[in-house]
Amino acid sequence: MSERVVLAYSGGLDTSVGIGWLKDATGKEVVAMAIDVGQGGEDMEQIRQRALDCGAVESVVIDAKEEFASDYLMPALKANALYQKRYPLVSALSRPIIAKYLAQTAKELGANSIAHGCTGKGNDQVRFEAAVAALAPDLTSIAPIRDLALTRDKAIEYAEKNNLPIAQSKKSPYSVDQNVWGRAVETGFLEDPWNAPIEDIYTYTQDPALERAATEVTIKFEQGIPVAIDGKAVTPLQAVMQLNELAGAQGVGRIDIVEDRLVGIKSREVYESPAGITLINAHEELENLTIERDLARYKRRVEAEWAELVYDGLWFSGLKRALDVFINDTQRYVSGEVRINLHAGQAVVTGRRSEQSLYDFNLATYDTGDTFDQSQAKGFIEIWSLPSKISARRDLA
Ligand code: ARG
Repeated sequence: MSERVVLAYSGGLDTSVGIGWLKDATGKEVVAMAIDVGQGGEDMEQIRQRALDCGAVESVVIDAKEEFASDYLMPALKANALYQKRYPLVSALSRPIIAKYLAQTAKELGANSIAHGCTGKGNDQVRFEAAVAALAPDLTSIAPIRDLALTRDKAIEYAEKNNLPIAQSKKSPYSVDQNVWGRAVETGFLEDPWNAPIEDIYTYTQDPALERAATEVTIKFEQGIPVAIDGKAVTPLQAVMQLNELAGAQGVGRIDIVEDRLVGIKSREVYESPAGITLINAHEELENLTIERDLARYKRRVEAEWAELVYDGLWFSGLKRALDVFINDTQRYVSGEVRINLHAGQAVVTGRRSEQSLYDFNLATYDTGDTFDQSQAKGFIEIWSLPSKISARRDLA
């Protein structure tokens, strides 16, 4: 039997041509593997068949939507994960689950390498290969577009010459990656960071400026996970899908950012993540109600670290695993309900309640019923500011 390679297959032009290209360049048989992470669009069975028509020896399709939501998106939500405080890691979260199935499929179908369709300029190549390295250190990685210089023009030429069954759709000016957590749009006229995004590039969100009535939604969380929306029980995947609809219709979750890639490039990225931004806003506010100050402050540092690790492709690392243990422990009391107003591109929390609440009305109130002994504050400040006072006597002398 000749050697085999498992290719992460999307059904698009590059990876379709990549099948024959890989075979020609390496002599390996190509197994195609397509994963459903909620990217929508084409039917997965059609994609499976196309890979065979393009010359794959085997073609597998994996529905990983539930697992993606439960095991990748929920940890990100618990971590309120936003890279550079803005980007909810849409693509960064899907790469490790795809890599996991690449490694698993390679093992099952006797392949000694994996392949992906990334270029040499982005983060995704790093994420795929670093994740595969951590899960199956003996597999080698091949990137036909990067390593075998498969350009778009060559791909079209190859597809025509070999009569590959790929619809010759007009080249989209953008590079798009999408899954149930959101969409990433880059390149084209967006490469000038001064150019404003046009309405055309968005599909998960409506124009926030459209006139419409607000939507109010109540999300119930148990230990950091959404379990009901407006009183109806939901799985993590259902929560994300329903909120994509509700928040997307209100234009919530658009992000336009100049981002620092791991490979050193600054790049202009546009994202839309209606459910992601809504859930993170709601979850963060429930934490404000239920997590004590020191722990909350420390967690914010861990959250930034977690987002950077995941952005940098280190999902399957010891540090990430250890941070997850910390983050999971912080979620012990993050249960309760958050009411959120979706309108004009914003997801604004308007109410929160929890049986685990640390909010004490009698301590907070300025009305009758106040149990906070204000006379204690004087002594507290005296001691709190003592170091400042002592050093000031020296510094100002
Ligand atoms: N810059 C984003 C990230 O690194 C999005 C990448 C999108 N990938 C793509 N092939 N268009 O996570």
